[in-house]
Amino acid sequence: MLAAAAVPLFLLMMQAPSGDSIYAGQCAICHGQRGEGGRGPSLNRTKLRHASDDTALRRIIRHGLPGTGMPATWLNEVELVEVAGFVRSLSNARKPQAELPGNAERGRAIFAGKGACVQCHVVNGAGGAFGPALTGIAAQRSAGHLRQSIVDPGADVPPSFVLLRAETAGGRTVTGARVNEDTFSVQIRDAAGTLHSFWKTELKMLKKELGKSAMPSYATSLTGPELDDLVRYLAGLGETEAQ
Ligand code: HEC
Ligand code: HEC
Repeated sequence: MLAAAAVPLFLLMMQAPSGDSIYAGQCAICHGQRGEGGRGPSLNRTKLRHASDDTALRRIIRHGLPGTGMPATWLNEVELVEVAGFVRSLSNARKPQAELPGNAERGRAIFAGKGACVQCHVVNGAGGAFGPALTGIAAQRSAGHLRQSIVDPGADVPPSFVLLRAETAGGRTVTGARVNEDTFSVQIRDAAGTLHSFWKTELKMLKKELGKSAMPSYATSLTGPELDDLVRYLAGLGETEAQ
């Protein structure tokens, strides 16, 4: 990039790739071609949770949202203005959303009952800590992505979740989520919620199960209508928590 100070702004504007091409190249993979959402939340809304104004919006796009899966970018000022403008324009292109099928109340019952999701997931303070908390999940993922997480959990394991397999010198194997790890020790939570703590010197093996999900697939154990109910329930988690 040329030194910005030496070049009139309008020339930079002319050279800059347009907001829609930056968006298509760097954002659509997570937020959808038209901002309808995916692994990331929809952006075709007039109100964005983290971006009350354009300055905040550009700051998020530049620095990302640490710890959430929203990455930082290397865009320059002009490109930031372009892509932020494009993000703002997405709300105009929004089609009236077809209502999701299913029933949230029934979904809540499946979450606690038949699906036993609550065994591994916290919602509003209650539930197991093995899987990620789902309290604000609707603000982070689209409904389609939530559905995929239930029927095909291995398709896109959230980057914050690391599955570890440890084998002790005595031959005991523990598989579970990494809670903590430093040079000398590691803490793993198994699916039953038990926390295991090991000194690395007592382990024969410690392995990351990359890209593997610790969540069972519900593709066959839940019916289509039950999945609709669950997704409807999950898609309602987050609206009230959003600030
Ligand atoms: C690897 C996936 C990924 C990519 C690539 C990505 N994002 Fe995100 N983005 C996310 C996730 C996940 C969140 C939700 C963070 C949270 O709130 O937990 C998010 C949040 C956001 C938000 C905040 C939404 C709100 O409601 O406040 C904006 C704005 C945003 N992204 C814009 C962009 C733009 C513009 C790009 C391209 C330059 C981009 N993102 C690229 C995953 C991604
Ligand atoms: C044995 C524990 C376990 C059970 C039971 C379980 N999950 Fe999960 N779930 C996980 C784990 C662990 C992850 C994190 C990453 C992975 O391994 O896929 C996860 C991820 C998810 C995600 C993705 C979260 C994100 O950040 O994108 C959703 C949504 C989800 N689970 C919903 C459910 C629902 C709904 C049920 C019940 C039908 C359920 N889970 C049952 C362990 C479980």
